[in-house]
Amino acid sequence: MTNSRIAAIDVGNDSLKGIFGKMDAEVNIPNVIARDIEDRPIIGIEELDTQDPLDGIHIRVHSPALKDNNAIYRVGNLATKSNNSTELDPGSSKSEEDQTLIMLFASIALDAARNDSNFKKNNNVIEANYTLGTGLPLREVKEGKDVGYRSRLLGSVHQIEFLVTPRYQGIKVNVKFDEVKVYPEGFAAFINLVMDNNSNIINKDLVDKRILIQDIGGLSTDIAVIKDRKVDDDKAQGFNLGVSESLELIREEIRSRHGIELDSRRDVVEIITKKNDRNHIMVKGSRTSVHDIVDRIMLELAKKQYRHLRNMWQKNSQTEICYFIGGGSSVLKEYIKTLNNNLDGYNIDFFEDEKESIWMMANAYYKLIADFSRKTQKQEPQKEEQKLAKTK
Ligand SMILES: Nc1ncnc2c1ncn2[C@@H]1O[C@H](COP(=O)(O)OP(=O)(O)OP(=O)(O)O)[C@@H](O)[C@H]1O
Ligand SMILES: [Mg+2]
Repeated sequence: MTNSRIAAIDVGNDSLKGIFGKMDAEVNIPNVIARDIEDRPIIGIEELDTQDPLDGIHIRVHSPALKDNNAIYRVGNLATKSNNSTELDPGSSKSEEDQTLIMLFASIALDAARNDSNFKKNNNVIEANYTLGTGLPLREVKEGKDVGYRSRLLGSVHQIEFLVTPRYQGIKVNVKFDEVKVYPEGFAAFINLVMDNNSNIINKDLVDKRILIQDIGGLSTDIAVIKDRKVDDDKAQGFNLGVSESLELIREEIRSRHGIELDSRRDVVEIITKKNDRNHIMVKGSRTSVHDIVDRIMLELAKKQYRHLRNMWQKNSQTEICYFIGGGSSVLKEYIKTLNNNLDGYNIDFFEDEKESIWMMANAYYKLIADFSRKTQKQEPQKEEQKLAKTK
């Protein structure tokens, strides 16, 4: 029997989060890619062993699932440094962008290369079988795009070749999916709230409630409506409003007011969330507050998010609680809480641990796909074959 490794992958607009195997591996890669015309002749051989592969993902991808087959890409941190890098446009469809697949394949190839003892290997070619759980925004599932997305993934072998990537240069990974499940993002978040890793219900109080889940990400916000243990497709809403833009504004104002050049939005997140000396930077060796800048810009965004919440609550008046998830919710937590205390006083909740908030979706896919995998493995071989025949 072939060894199928579990992959649970959330391709967020801001970053991909992946959980693999028996939760023995995880990866977080910024969702940025850059198309390369030719092989990148930059890093020297001596650097290859010392650099982290994650910082040098450089691949050629061969897959019939792609619109642009056989192209070469820099992915993640490496692409960030490139001047032709692309991030997903919030208005686009995740299921129809090559970028989504490039990110997905890159993360899986990286996992396969790191854990090649799980797979058959001939020379430099790893034959990697995966059982994949992933998701798409509700809107796309509603439009039925999950079906085509799934069959494109299932339909062929996808080959990822590492080019100038530290440690893995020259390795090819043939990825074959034994099964692919595409879950709607809002539903997945609900599952994570009510189910544990062994598919037991952990939150009996919550499971039959009417709830809202407001997922504030880097570039977008989605609000799911849950009723009778299901997502209500018609009620769900998505907005092209995330936290990245505000982080960028803060970065710019710190530059113009204090002459301090922060490298990235991540640096801004660090400044506004750190436990000690929050909202302070060093300017020429003097501790300087940027509290006013941060407060003004974040409050502005929190107000917009709060308006969306209010609007959704009005349309779903019997809602009992709203959970805020996603990286944006961690950053905006205190602002939204304060607004809520001064205004409508809705029953809202946040996650203490920002990691839990950010990894909500990936954790949910993991629970769902691991459960699926357990169930199919328990079945007798014959039944499983019959099932496979049906899906063909
Ligand atoms: N540890 C952290 N603490 C606080 N904020 C963070 C942390 N890590 C990332 N962020 C911020 O949260 C945002 C990313 O959130 P998240 O990972 O939920 O987005 P995403 O799911 O990739 O994007 P989208 O939901 O738009 O598809 C980024 O703007 C980032 O700066
Ligand atoms: Mg997200």
